[in-house]
Amino acid sequence: MDHFHYVGGELYCQQVRLSEVAAEFGTPLYVYSRTTLEEHYDRFAQAFAPLDPLICFAAKACSNIEVLRVLVQRGAGIDVVSGGELHRARLAGCPGERIVFAGVGKSDHEVREALTTGTPPSTGGPPGEPIRTFNVESEQEYESIAMAARSLGVRAHAALRVNPSIDLKTHEYLHTAARDAKFGVDMHHARTLLRKFHAEKHLRLTGLHVHLGSLIHDTRPYVQAINECLTLIDELASDGIRIESLDIGGGFGADYVTGEAMPAAEYARAIVPLLEQRVRNGLKIILEPGRSIAANAGVLLTRVMFVKRGPQKKFVIVDAGMNTLVRPALYDAFHFIWPASVSPQHEPVRRQSSPDMPGLETADVVGPICESGDFLAKDRLLPAVGRGELLSVFTSGAYGMAMASRYNSHPLPAEVLIEGSRARLVRRREDYRDLVAHELPETTQIFDGRAAARRSET
Ligand code: LLP
Repeated sequence: MDHFHYVGGELYCQQVRLSEVAAEFGTPLYVYSRTTLEEHYDRFAQAFAPLDPLICFAAKACSNIEVLRVLVQRGAGIDVVSGGELHRARLAGCPGERIVFAGVGKSDHEVREALTTGTPPSTGGPPGEPIRTFNVESEQEYESIAMAARSLGVRAHAALRVNPSIDLKTHEYLHTAARDAKFGVDMHHARTLLRKFHAEKHLRLTGLHVHLGSLIHDTRPYVQAINECLTLIDELASDGIRIESLDIGGGFGADYVTGEAMPAAEYARAIVPLLEQRVRNGLKIILEPGRSIAANAGVLLTRVMFVKRGPQKKFVIVDAGMNTLVRPALYDAFHFIWPASVSPQHEPVRRQSSPDMPGLETADVVGPICESGDFLAKDRLLPAVGRGELLSVFTSGAYGMAMASRYNSHPLPAEVLIEGSRARLVRRREDYRDLVAHELPETTQIFDGRAAARRSET
């Protein structure tokens, strides 16, 4: 249940009518359902309960602090991939023990923040705690984190991201475990690195991490990857090296057509039996779901600006574009779109990619950005809509706002969290001041190249 439903032709999120939320907060507007976020997290936690895992929500999917806070309060940890996401995780109150830090290019600065209590007070961060583990992607990266830990005199943990080269049936850009992927190291190299660094005092390398890609609607790649990891764990055990944690990443699917929650139980049915005994023997399991929790917990509300008929096509021009939701333009992704207020005959009982109803018209739903690639839907069957009407772009809670940009100088949209019958603004809409805040005269700084050259000569 995603808690976005029609009653009498009006779209509601939980007990709130979304046309009223749009009237209050403006469009384009991201709207999240607190109950859906909680239910999706709980479903995960229940399905994998026999493994007692740490479930780290992938902040990259939806990084709003209040969304993170909802999940942290429910028991989730957070998977971060930058100092900025770490900052958000700490602001959301996530204990350091529940934060894992991945990514192929962590800067020295970010590493130091993760190893210590965090950002300097000048950046507005609360004092945090050192994180649980780094997911390390290369030998050089391992060495630079180890050096930072040594110089700070702290002891930290790392897991090595391995790349089992698995073929996935997903969009090319969403596949991260291919042979030529920039992520992780191959299994052979992994064994060498784990042997070399497992007992290093300041950065013990005692975990494995694997993340295959995203939108994986199949349990087989997980089974294959986990089995490969278990083989490596056994090989290392015969070398006298004990692997303490296995992070199986994210990538679990979400249904972009029906909006149904992903069947966490189905993944668990395939994965739990492989790992149960290992967990009893002390292996800690970590998961990093992003999309499966957030995608169907959010919609994007956008208003129709104009309707335009070309010689062949009808265009519905809306106020959200590739700057607001880039997924259709970037991955050719499908998002179900429907008016927020419809006549009874057009109330969608269930969502379909090609709805079977009388009186629909085919249209492209496009944004205001000056690019032909700026569209939210192509050749889509929709009820006739007119200027000022509100459309809902479903399954937008993951990689929606998180990937939004200010392209064409559009200020970023607002975000609202629905809690029961209340709609709470959790990110205010940007205005033109925000848009130019870093370009105003008081931010000007000058580097004089000639003066610098003179200095270096003397
Ligand atoms: N862990 C790691 C190391 C990841 O790189 C990712 C996603 C996740 C977890 C979470 O994956 P999820 O459960 O959300 O599939 N922008 C794309 C998705 C990119 C995913 C990147 N990594 C999209 O809009 O479809």
